[in-house]
Amino acid sequence: MRYDDIEIANLRRRRGEKWSQYSPEVLPAWVADMDFSVCAPIQQLLDETIAIGDIGYPREDNPQELAAIFAQRMQRKFDWEIDPERVEVLTDVVQGLYLSLLAFSERGQGAIVQTPVYPPFLHAVPDTGRHLVANPLVSTTGRYGIDFDQLRGQIDRDTRLLLFCNPQNPTGRVFTRAELETLSDIVLEHDLIVCSDEIHADLIYPGAEHIPFATVSPEMASRTVTLTSATKAFNIAGLRCAVAVFGSGSLQTRFNEIPAHARGGISSLGLAATAIAWSEGQAWLDETVAYLDDNRKFVANFLRDHLPDTKHRTPEATYLAWVDCRDLDLSPDPYSFFLERACVALSDGRAFGPDGDGFVRINFATSRAILTQVLERMANAVHG
Ligand SMILES: Cc1ncc(COP(=O)(O)O)c(C=O)c1O
Repeated sequence: MRYDDIEIANLRRRRGEKWSQYSPEVLPAWVADMDFSVCAPIQQLLDETIAIGDIGYPREDNPQELAAIFAQRMQRKFDWEIDPERVEVLTDVVQGLYLSLLAFSERGQGAIVQTPVYPPFLHAVPDTGRHLVANPLVSTTGRYGIDFDQLRGQIDRDTRLLLFCNPQNPTGRVFTRAELETLSDIVLEHDLIVCSDEIHADLIYPGAEHIPFATVSPEMASRTVTLTSATKAFNIAGLRCAVAVFGSGSLQTRFNEIPAHARGGISSLGLAATAIAWSEGQAWLDETVAYLDDNRKFVANFLRDHLPDTKHRTPEATYLAWVDCRDLDLSPDPYSFFLERACVALSDGRAFGPDGDGFVRINFATSRAILTQVLERMANAVHG
């Protein structure tokens, strides 16, 4: 797969929202899809599947097969031992957030969310009638971190859940073992249940290490639901497939009180492509993360040299750059400014919570040439 060799004209033929939402003069660098092709084994699988019209209902045992592949992968990558029986296959990770809120809390009870955060976290809590406890990240040590003191003060008898995002979208933080241990002490102290979204765990850069929250201790595992999928790292979000791992049978039983049919079916293509990604995709993933690593450095250098009034901390994971534009004083707001004046579609920081006001998120999972155009358009609009 050639990362540098991407034709904008071909991207514009895509029907997905990234390239079709805005008018043709706009370069999109918003929603978290990559501009790269999928890895060869997935491409081959999809080609063959369509060629023989094999898009009927999946076999009933396909989810169990995927659970076994996932468990082997977690053992290999993180030394995390999972019983495949404790894995449920879902349609998507956001569904897992909603179902966890419904299964593990009552209406009116509280769910903690560290902000800024991937917007569906913020929607899931009020959508299910729960109370959002926002625990803003702080950036005192040169990188974003959790405000543990504030968190301790925020939890009351009605707080039931922590919706945790690690690696964190949009800041790109990969929380350290020490941070996870402190968080886990608070969770245990207050008898919370954790729903840990680890969808970006395959997109980690050198220097950072992903530690699944459930591996912090057996006590933590027994109160943690881990959600993940192959969709971000292998660029197959449209295929719809994710997994939830339960650290205890009782959590899984409560979750499964919501009948499987109410959860919706799983795409046969999603199941098959996820299985291939997790069993045969590692070489492609390594190559892709290496290219993204250079892109993240390119973004950091470009912002430092050409947009020095922005603030940006190089992400430790994800292909997303969270950029503080408050000192640029862009009118009416950075997202609209860059869309209208630079013809670049970024993610609006305000969607990630009130502390995202004045920020934008840049998706840098594209060729260096397209990324250069995106950044140059931004700099020219600011300086022009
Ligand atoms: C943290 C996080 N969770 C979940 C998702 C979406 O996952 P899904 O499409 O499986 O719901 C994203 C997509 O960007 C994400 O960044």
